Amino acid sequence: MSNSLPYSKKDVDYDNAKFRHRSFSKVIAQSFLVSNRKRDCFSCSTGKFLLLLLIFGVAYLMLTHTSPVDVVSKDQTIGNSNIEGISITNGAGRLKKLWRRAPRLPPRLPPDAKGTNNGIGHATENRDVRSMWITRKQKVKDAFIHAWSGYKKYAMGYDELMPLSHQGTDGLGGLGATVVDALDTAMIMGIDEVVAEAGTWIEENLSNRISNKGQSGASRDSDTSYLYDMYREAMNGVRHLLVRKTIPNGLVFIGELPYGSNGDFSPKMDHLVCFLSGTLALGATKGLTKEQAMKNNMLNFEDLENMKLAEDLAKTCFEMYAVTSTGLAPEIAYFHTEEYSEQDLDGGNKSSEYVNDIIIKPADRHNLLRPETVESLFVLYRITEDPKYREWGWQIFEAFEKYTKVDTGGYCSLDDVTTIPPNKRDKMETFFLGETLKYLYLLFEDSSVIPLDKFVFNTEAHPLPINLKT
Ligand SMILES: *[C@@H]1O[C@H](CO)[C@@H](O)[C@H](O)[C@H]1NC(C)=O
Ligand SMILES: *[C@@H]1O[C@H](CO)[C@@H](O)[C@H](O)[C@H]1NC(C)=O
Repeated sequence: MSNSLPYSKKDVDYDNAKFRHRSFSKVIAQSFLVSNRKRDCFSCSTGKFLLLLLIFGVAYLMLTHTSPVDVVSKDQTIGNSNIEGISITNGAGRLKKLWRRAPRLPPRLPPDAKGTNNGIGHATENRDVRSMWITRKQKVKDAFIHAWSGYKKYAMGYDELMPLSHQGTDGLGGLGATVVDALDTAMIMGIDEVVAEAGTWIEENLSNRISNKGQSGASRDSDTSYLYDMYREAMNGVRHLLVRKTIPNGLVFIGELPYGSNGDFSPKMDHLVCFLSGTLALGATKGLTKEQAMKNNMLNFEDLENMKLAEDLAKTCFEMYAVTSTGLAPEIAYFHTEEYSEQDLDGGNKSSEYVNDIIIKPADRHNLLRPETVESLFVLYRITEDPKYREWGWQIFEAFEKYTKVDTGGYCSLDDVTTIPPNKRDKMETFFLGETLKYLYLLFEDSSVIPLDKFVFNTEAHPLPINLKT
């Protein structure tokens, strides 16, 4: 099967950009390792690689400056005005030039070039639905502003905000990780003031380091097609060895084989695994809608299987939220199967039909405002155009608002999502601004903004244009 791909070499090449190295390490680690040390390593490396990724992104953008994406109606990009809004004090730095250029800003396709919403008819109903999502999108933007205001007030320049004790903490290398992560979310949301604040801070405090390291980052145009083969092999392994269904209601989940493929299966899934749903869908349709991909005859049997798994997994990830008392997912869930069950360890939402399918152990009940599920909901909404993914995302957002918002500014992690009210933790992770709120915003945004066949999100949810040149 592997030597008869239905799409061209070019497709394969640009698709590789999607398979972010976090995804690989996660898949591999989730699938074949169980050591906690490994899991801890993800969070620390996320921080350490933050700047490197920014550098990588910068270099990539320079290399792909002439990418065809630029052609897409530049004057409509929401970012243009933001860019001019940055008050640059240090003259012509490399960063400044970079920010003046277009490709890193989300282009919009002309509204009539979209071809969605086929024939539902009722124009007013459509208008009402549209305005509802615009309102909800605005609520996510308000949340971002609230999160940023807390960070700015108490922790500007630190990696992360401690929203309860009103101070900052440097756990990620002390490079102002939240500023770096928040910048392009603010650009996408069109919040000029935050773009200016974050941009100036980075310009003054990080631009030297970036231009010093810029050279080394630029050496990546190497052949990466082996990554696609690795991806396919990994996903075949996942499908054949790790996918199971729960009882009584048949939720599909991805477990672990802590002792290798001949050892015992563990029905345990970290919230982190929920990113895989979106990745599988992207891998299947290359960022097009499922409908377009079908029409173009782009989906082979394997793609369709991956697409199905993507949708099943997104459902399970959503139910990991809905099954708890707070409506927020735990860090890790176990699943009730033929071989495995536990008494009295449910999520606390007795009206959920999945309350007996999902098992949540006391040590795993925290929530860190993680992005993986809403990331997948965003991708699946774009690809399937099924509005249920937006509704699920909205339900999750409302739970964040209800239980994690801190009045004085910022949002916090929780100790236990199964008790009400949940104990708050004194930390707002950087990925809440960089990823979680960005994906929620884009989930409610028009699909022509940062189209998924032209952009890829890197590990930290920073969008990069796909270079279609070979
Ligand atoms: C650069 O960082 C220092 C230390 O965090 C801070 O005092 C200064 O205001 C920062 N520059 C800008 C423009 O924010
Ligand atoms: C509990 O489950 C019901 C049924 O699925 C759902 O409508 C409700 O929103 C859930 N509660 C929370 C807090 O998510």
